[in-house]
Amino acid sequence: MKKEAKIRPFWYSDIWLFPKLITVITTLDSEGRVNAAPYSHIMQYDVMPKHPRMIVGFRQDSHTFQNICATKEFVVNCPSADHLDDMMETARFYPAGVNELEHTRFTMIPSLHVRPPSIQECPQIAECEAEEIIRLEKSSGIVIARIKALVFDEELIEMGREDRIRRMNLPIGLGDEDRMDYFHTTLGHMTKHQLGETPDGFKGGEVQLHMTWDADALQSLMTIPPMVRKMVTDQTEAWCRDKGGDKVTLAHFNAFAEEQGMTPELLDRFRKKKRTA
Ligand SMILES: Cc1cc2nc3c(=O)[nH]c(=O)nc-3n(C[C@H](O)[C@H](O)[C@H](O)COP(=O)(O)O)c2cc1C
Repeated sequence: MKKEAKIRPFWYSDIWLFPKLITVITTLDSEGRVNAAPYSHIMQYDVMPKHPRMIVGFRQDSHTFQNICATKEFVVNCPSADHLDDMMETARFYPAGVNELEHTRFTMIPSLHVRPPSIQECPQIAECEAEEIIRLEKSSGIVIARIKALVFDEELIEMGREDRIRRMNLPIGLGDEDRMDYFHTTLGHMTKHQLGETPDGFKGGEVQLHMTWDADALQSLMTIPPMVRKMVTDQTEAWCRDKGGDKVTLAHFNAFAEEQGMTPELLDRFRKKKRTA
């Protein structure tokens, strides 16, 4: 039996479970003083590398939101599970101007492209600059920010995903009870599920061509994963149209892909990935 739950204040935390990323966001106030606090309402935006962005949700009266409004820059630091106590320390309601990091084992290091510091102990860091700030009615503020750099502990960058997940040991936030007890979990058992191939009858079914594609371009298009194939088709045709063409050749396809940061090496990764199922 299912039953409708009452939607009460803080429903998104109290009743609805959102397993979340745990971050500590560092900012500077207008006097250059460091602030740090945990934030989890965060998501990525735009798959392509030209306009990588983060969208973050804040209480408008938080020091972090006010600092971002004043100085635009912030750093998203992802601590490993070993630093959950330090992360919680930065959540305390200290007065404006207090650097919460001084009450933790975290060490400040200079960021590469923004003025707020990064945290040495965090293996994964995004340096951001606010582009758009939306004040929703009531108390929430949404910041859409340009990612100026993604910074990692060096050895992580070339590591395969499974090893990287284990090495980073990022905690997963499970929300709180009464704004007092915060629940977290860490990686225990991990499963891997392979995405099945689209059955033959449906392959390319969503894709509609509005221009003539030569055979080689079409073959390349079909190696693009089905979930993004329609988007790639539409964007490639728009790009060719912009360039005054009425036909998509393999050279067009590759040139557009390259402009989007899809190097031949990256495209090859899709083509060569072997399905084990
Ligand atoms: C794990 C965790 C995640 C949090 N996520 C958010 C969030 O996404 N948005 C928010 O407004 N507050 C969030 N908070 C609460 C703020 O961190 C808290 O109000 C903090 O004191 C704000 O500090 P500041 O005023 O220095 O920015 C979170 C707290 C914890 C412990």
